[in-house]
Amino acid sequence: MGRGLEQGGGLRAAASSIRKQTFNRATMQRVFFGLAIGGLCFLGVYTLQTLRNDMAIACSDDLRATRSMLDSDVVALQTVAKRWLRPWERFGSDGGGITQDQVSKVFAFLQQGQGIGSLRIQVIHGVLQEPTVVKEWLKTKVYYPPRIQHWMALFRHIEKMHGLPDFLDIIVCTEDQAFLPASFEHIGGAPIFTYASTLGHYDIPIPTMEYYGKLKDVDLEAVKAQKWEERIGAPAIWRGSPTGGLYTRENYQQKQRYQLVNTTKHYPDLVDARMMPCAPGQCHDEAWAAMERELPTGGSQFKYPDYIKHKFLIDIDGNAWSSRFILLLSTGCVIFKIETPYVEYFNEFLVPYKHYIPVASDSSDLPEKIQYAVDHDDEMRAMSENLVSSFNRFIANGRWELYVKTLLTEYSRLLIKPPRIRPNGTRKGATDKAVSEAGVLRWRT
Ligand SMILES: *[C@@H]1O[C@H](CO)[C@@H](O)[C@H](O)[C@H]1NC(C)=O
Ligand SMILES: *[C@@H]1O[C@H](CO)[C@@H](O)[C@H](O)[C@H]1NC(C)=O
Repeated sequence: MGRGLEQGGGLRAAASSIRKQTFNRATMQRVFFGLAIGGLCFLGVYTLQTLRNDMAIACSDDLRATRSMLDSDVVALQTVAKRWLRPWERFGSDGGGITQDQVSKVFAFLQQGQGIGSLRIQVIHGVLQEPTVVKEWLKTKVYYPPRIQHWMALFRHIEKMHGLPDFLDIIVCTEDQAFLPASFEHIGGAPIFTYASTLGHYDIPIPTMEYYGKLKDVDLEAVKAQKWEERIGAPAIWRGSPTGGLYTRENYQQKQRYQLVNTTKHYPDLVDARMMPCAPGQCHDEAWAAMERELPTGGSQFKYPDYIKHKFLIDIDGNAWSSRFILLLSTGCVIFKIETPYVEYFNEFLVPYKHYIPVASDSSDLPEKIQYAVDHDDEMRAMSENLVSSFNRFIANGRWELYVKTLLTEYSRLLIKPPRIRPNGTRKGATDKAVSEAGVLRWRT
């Protein structure tokens, strides 16, 4: 990616120091919150005399779809959502909440000042409204209309699975990059929800409908049935085309994907990585010609059934975060993950060397790490089992949708709800539809 990885490391350190500062208070709040919720649940359960083993189900209807989910896993998802929202929490307590005015200001900032493709989505009285979009962008940016569809599909999907909060006013970004640097002076407005955030940004990562598309290919039964000892060990496999910004004659050798294939080409017993042909607009001709001379090229993309026959897979960023990663996590393979600045909500549940093997951003340590994996088969089998278990608990089985629902609910709590707006002349008891229409008119001016 264009963003330097050293810079990524610095940002990560900065973000982690910010997180540490707020850790103690947050921990206390969480403990207190946990005790309070626990007490309420107990009271509720006791009163209704419907003792259930799963406290989560007793606590909330939202969790009906996740019947077998452990209470602690539900709390873990909530904790991640709250952590991303923490920079805005002070508006929720001291400042009294995020106002729609603040949302409007951030939306205007993105459109005018920054020229960033974004859209504003509102839910009023539980009803999902048509999004507010940037009209000029509809005509000029080819990727914008499909991404609007993509975001709306996500909201409709969550509405169908879990219902949406009663009120939402949210800005989502259609770009592949995060925009709000993690420093306090930038938190004057409302958050931006995005596909791709980093620990150095306050943009809030939210799973996209892309997850839904990728996870359709997942076959957990096949993974379960595939014996570890019958999987193919080394070489670890990777196929992909040159992405990560435009490849020119001057820069192609600095690209992460180039380095992956170049660094590993002399270790065919350990790594089988090939560069597939360039997509239109992604490479200058000289750059592609040079890559054809210098690298193993060609081949075709692996499919899910290929992945699950292997033990070792490699994952690397493309133009932004790796959208393939989520699929690979389900395969029961050991994933060699090339360092990335991007974060997704499930990063929280993936511990290096327990669930996957981290690799330097230039892939320089990849051959030796795969050699280690070959030499420590029992350890790798345990890693595979750890990963499948975390995938089942926090991503598959409706869990990523539950995460989105939780994130939206927590965000909604921070928003100041507008007063019930009634059309002129309508008395109390007006239908929600009329109220909602009036609301839309008022809020969009
Ligand atoms: C490509 O790999 C070769 C050896 O395998 C190395 O000498 C060369 O420096 C690498 N090129 C780049 C640009 O990393
Ligand atoms: C509603 O009432 C306000 C003030 O009473 C008035 O200014 C406004 O024009 C009315 N709107 C409509 C649509 O009648």
